Amino acid sequence: MIPISRPIIEDEEKAAVLAVLGSGQLAHGNRVHEFETRFADLAGAAHAIAVTSGTSSLHLALLAQGIGAGDEVITPAFSFVASADCARFVGARPVFADIEPATFTLDPADIESRITPRTRAILPVHLFGQMCDLEAITAIARAHDLVVIQDACQAHGATFHKQPVGAFGTACFSFYATKNMTTGEGGMIVTNDAGLAERARMLREHGSRRRYVHETLGYNLCMTEFQAAIGLAQLPKLERWNAKRNANAAYLTRGLQAVPGVVPPSIRPGTQHVFHQYTIRIQHRDQVLPFVIEQGIGAGVYYPAPIHRQPSYQRLGYDEHLVESERASREVMSLPVHPSLSQEDLDRVVEAVAAAVQSARSVQVGAA
Ligand SMILES: Cc1ncc(COP(=O)(O)O)c(C=O)c1O
Repeated sequence: MIPISRPIIEDEEKAAVLAVLGSGQLAHGNRVHEFETRFADLAGAAHAIAVTSGTSSLHLALLAQGIGAGDEVITPAFSFVASADCARFVGARPVFADIEPATFTLDPADIESRITPRTRAILPVHLFGQMCDLEAITAIARAHDLVVIQDACQAHGATFHKQPVGAFGTACFSFYATKNMTTGEGGMIVTNDAGLAERARMLREHGSRRRYVHETLGYNLCMTEFQAAIGLAQLPKLERWNAKRNANAAYLTRGLQAVPGVVPPSIRPGTQHVFHQYTIRIQHRDQVLPFVIEQGIGAGVYYPAPIHRQPSYQRLGYDEHLVESERASREVMSLPVHPSLSQEDLDRVVEAVAAAVQSARSVQVGAA
């Protein structure tokens, strides 16, 4: 099976973890500080705060921004559930806006009508490694005095008009095992707001700036030295891995654009996509997918239901109809694009999709 993702762990990562084991400093220490400094540079931000996961980075960023009960946060429904859940963690209400069909990211044209006197923040998601239309989104935020907290959990190294995410305000990253770079589990907030950075650091460590002085209620969401050591070993390779993801994506697109019923992903002009996922639209997705998997291709559906259709949101009474989010959930299929794929693997992916489309058609013709 060609897997949909494969973490790359090389000699540097292994040596770095062993060095931590030998050092006696296992919890939060100098490696975490160094990882924060180097990651802040990559993301173009003044501050970085390392935490336990992408989810905890979003949670802490919202808390540190002072978002809470009674506030509304506008966010896409076509995303991983964590991007909306974090608003609920702090007592705010996620308000869902639709996505642009071409990029699967938050549609600025659908944000404005959802702004109410209670709206405090816009939480766009750079889905599949593709940046949102940050120019339009930050302009709306400025006009309505809203903050922007970016979910960049899938977008390490992505840029918008050559600027990294940090140039557009606070952003949150995940280092989960399948991401473009990993620490196993892990997350990072990056921001140019010194006050927000200080509050996030406090909240991460039991509400304390000084040992055993607890100024606010806080959490224990610190990254370990093991995670930081792996992250430091991965960072210098990210650019090369992202370039390989882009080359793989271009190759897949060249092969797949001729397959009937397939719409390959499009890249927003002026942005650097990092292809966390290579996601096509495909006619009769649910009929084609099993034939793709049967041929040993680890295809997946991200995401089969938009967040507002999840049981935990239906119970809260979310019943809007978001046309493009729902259509994307019915039509998308992600294919392996990760840097470990060989030329032969890429050819197998293209051939498997073409053959699966054929097989699904034959079944339909037979059934007619
Ligand atoms: C868009 C998005 N937001 C948030 C998260 C949460 O990150 P984590 O799994 O590290 O908590 C993820 C990770 O899967 C994600 O893809």
